[in-house]
Amino acid sequence: MSVQTGAAAAARGPGGALVVASGAQDEKEAEFRPFRWSIARRLLSYMWRHRGLQVRIVWYGLLLAVINSLVPEAVKQTIALTIEHPERWTALTGLEPEHGLFAGAGAIAVLGLAFYLVMRVRLMAVNALGEHVVFDIRHDLFRHVQTLDMSFFDRVRLGRVLSRGTGDVAAVRSAAVQVIPRTVIHVGMGVFALARMFSFDWPLASALCVMGPVLYFGNTLFDRHLTGAYRVVQESFSRLTANIAETVSGVRVTQAFVRERVNAELFAELCDHHTANNMRAARVHGMYIPFYELSGQVAAGLILLFGGWRISGGHMGLAELIGFLLYTGAFFMSVIILADLYNVTLQAMAGAERIFALLDSRPSIVDGPDAAPLERTAKGAEIEFRGVTFGYNPGRPVLHGVSFRVPAGTSVALVGHTGSGKTSTVGLISRLYAHQSGEVLIDGRRIEDISLASLHEQTGLVLQDNFLFAGSVRDNIRFARPDASDEAVRSACERLGCLGVFEALPRGLDSDVGERGGGLSLGQRQLVTFARAMVADPRILMLDEATSAVDTFTEHRIQLALEKLMEGRTSVIVAHRLSTVRRCDQILVLDRGRIVERGGHGELLAAGGVYAELYREFVRLSEGAVD
Ligand SMILES: Nc1ncnc2c1ncn2[C@@H]1O[C@H](COP(=O)(O)OP(=O)(O)OP(=O)(O)O)[C@@H](O)[C@H]1O
Ligand SMILES: [Mg+2]
Repeated sequence: MSVQTGAAAAARGPGGALVVASGAQDEKEAEFRPFRWSIARRLLSYMWRHRGLQVRIVWYGLLLAVINSLVPEAVKQTIALTIEHPERWTALTGLEPEHGLFAGAGAIAVLGLAFYLVMRVRLMAVNALGEHVVFDIRHDLFRHVQTLDMSFFDRVRLGRVLSRGTGDVAAVRSAAVQVIPRTVIHVGMGVFALARMFSFDWPLASALCVMGPVLYFGNTLFDRHLTGAYRVVQESFSRLTANIAETVSGVRVTQAFVRERVNAELFAELCDHHTANNMRAARVHGMYIPFYELSGQVAAGLILLFGGWRISGGHMGLAELIGFLLYTGAFFMSVIILADLYNVTLQAMAGAERIFALLDSRPSIVDGPDAAPLERTAKGAEIEFRGVTFGYNPGRPVLHGVSFRVPAGTSVALVGHTGSGKTSTVGLISRLYAHQSGEVLIDGRRIEDISLASLHEQTGLVLQDNFLFAGSVRDNIRFARPDASDEAVRSACERLGCLGVFEALPRGLDSDVGERGGGLSLGQRQLVTFARAMVADPRILMLDEATSAVDTFTEHRIQLALEKLMEGRTSVIVAHRLSTVRRCDQILVLDRGRIVERGGHGELLAAGGVYAELYREFVRLSEGAVD
């Protein structure tokens, strides 16, 4: 089992903050995209799963539209019946006109209460729908991203993946909960308001109608401007927070290198920039709000002017004029909201397009049609490379025609200068990457013909950076086998001879490892990863030895644990310590992606080549280490 395959993905973030920070400086991703049916259909399929809720929301919306439209009607009727023509009220009810005013006010109060109650249940339903949609999309994204291979994570920045699950999902959420129901409401309300305006006085209604498109396009335009300005604010803010996060996590380095003043200046610069962006957004906003006000006032002036003239000409009553004013407000509001919804839709298009592109990206390493599980026969498995060439970028190979064989149950040490291809070789054995030519064979079978699940189950990878997940020591040890009993965990530690080390921690095996294992020493972290591999019990053990030096005592302990871990398995060890190299059955010396020497320790030393030179380095590194 690749006990740390997930680790490699997350490992690009010891400077997680750094990656996110630079992510903000990436080339811009589109904020709005044109409407596309193929994307809308896919989004609708997410909403369709919760159609009951969606239908309820539309119903609530219609109810709200009716209530909202009735309010101006109630005002208009009350004025018409009790102020303009009180005799009609008295004839109709036999009551005083003042009673009519109370009745009108009461009706409006009842409508207000009804509005409040319906709005409440509607908001609950809207939020529930939003959460469901967000959950479904995030769930799909998470599951999918986990299946992607390493080359994807090499290509795509962490910040990009994060923004699919945050900003883009939020844009889609807004559209999912708003667009359909609110369009229904506001088209309904707008049409009703316009119809009433025409019924009161068609020439005046036609004059005001012209303002509709102006308002609609004006709003769309302003809204885009504003969204753009806020986006810039958001970006400078994320740079600011990333900088704070980085400063806090790197505070020791900062203090050690007396960088406080330089960092403070950099931070002040970021703050200045952020303030400037905020001010710009405020300026755009400041233009936007008066635009509304102005259009409202222009409309009110027009209505008064033409309305008064129409009243004096006997074409219209006072109640109708007031009703007209109120309906004009409702009409304009609907137009503005519809313009907003259009922008929300286009923003969701942009977000959804990116989300779906990620969901559609296929891992390049998948089980072929003939892939069969690797049998668990002998304790160790045989590994063979035949003329393997591989490059992360196929045009630039980092391994050139590498051939070697590791008989079952034996061990091989890979040594060589930094960048010589040791980690890359190990990556090919767990098929984290696919080689371009030659053959990688496990137990004599081509690695492509072995099902990935069985391959990963039988290979254990302990990475150079000893990545630990948040949680306890115990959680980390049984990472590969979450069902492993406490007994199994203890016995694995015991066999490795490190139970004592973990028990000496403040809360024993239940001690928290801290963020990325920061609560443990390097040696302790290494032992946790060994215990993790021990519990996973793979047939092939791959260890990319940590380069950091540990004290002699810990070194000894790690060596003993490693020896136990290697027992009865095939081991491929990227060795940085002499003591490890000497324990391996064969040594392969890599240089710029080629095997330049191979053999036993004594043999290679006597040859006086690259290994002999490396040996001197090893000796220097291992100085004082127990061997
Ligand atoms: N994810 C990657 N994408 C592109 N190139 C890579 C990637 N990882 C490694 N390389 C390149 O491949 C070459 C071999 O790297 P590799 O990690 O195998 O070296 P290594 O022998 O393990 O070195 P070290 O001892 O420093 O760990 C290097 O030139 C490196 O720059
Ligand atoms: Mg390496």
